[in-house]
Amino acid sequence: MLGYRHIFHAGNHADILKHAVLTLTLQALLRKDKPFVYIDTHAGPGRYALDDVRALRTGEFQDGIGRWWSATPSAAALAPLLSIVHALNPDGSLRHYPGSPLIAQRLLRPSDRMVLIELHPTDHQALNLAFGGASAVKVEHGDAFERLKAYLPPPERRGLVLIDPPYELKSDYSRAVELLVDAHRRWATGVYLLWFPVLSRLAAQRFVERLAATGIPRQLCVEYLPHAEGPGVNLQGSGMVLINPPFKLDVALAALTLVLGAAVPGRSRLRWTVPE
Ligand SMILES: C[S@@+](CC[C@H](N)C(=O)[O-])C[C@H]1O[C@@H](n2cnc3c(N)ncnc32)[C@H](O)[C@@H]1O
Repeated sequence: MLGYRHIFHAGNHADILKHAVLTLTLQALLRKDKPFVYIDTHAGPGRYALDDVRALRTGEFQDGIGRWWSATPSAAALAPLLSIVHALNPDGSLRHYPGSPLIAQRLLRPSDRMVLIELHPTDHQALNLAFGGASAVKVEHGDAFERLKAYLPPPERRGLVLIDPPYELKSDYSRAVELLVDAHRRWATGVYLLWFPVLSRLAAQRFVERLAATGIPRQLCVEYLPHAEGPGVNLQGSGMVLINPPFKLDVALAALTLVLGAAVPGRSRLRWTVPE
């Protein structure tokens, strides 16, 4: 089933968490000269027009990038993401929002590489048009759950895998866990970021516990839950489990949770769910 289109959700609060964590993790990897690979298993189209009728219909971006867009980017934790968004909207009106591939492309060096996997034919076509021509980018039309293994371990032996399924199908939860276990078995030293929605706190807690029970060490979990459970609230928030976070990334993420939590106190948190 390929009903999911991220344009309806682009720039929402879950994207802010995901993309802020992504920028901070990439920045941490960029501190060393050695080249690395960025692998995006569920890449989407690469960028989004917020004046698209589908984005306007849900208006979800108002509660995400709309909230932070006009804020002074004094908070270091959000500044790298906000500066990419500002560069995409040079006339000062918010009309474009970057997808994960564009964020990575803006940060990577010529010596680094990207692999972008996308299953939806329309989104894959957009991705291929925007990124397919670059020599250091491989754009693949395929099922990430089948295809990721072909890229692991990468020859660079350094890099980051973003796993960002839509979770429209219940099976995505199990498949994401299995994908992570298989990927980690092939490449234990890679950095992995797995995004998950928080539809109910209990279900999210069980998902995090299931990941912790895999035996994979060094799992850091960050969550941002701007909405309390209640009528009309579908997505309370989201979280990310990071495997092998680079040195001191936990400090940067602690700062991020403070920035995000400043608007809605007590609704963001960071914890090691599996220690070293
Ligand atoms: C949440 S969106 C990705 C957003 C993107 N990572 C970003 O941050 O801009 C999930 C994407 O996964 C794609 N998708 C769904 N199932 C897939 C699969 N089995 N393999 C690869 N892509 C898939 C969807 O078409 C959708 O574009």
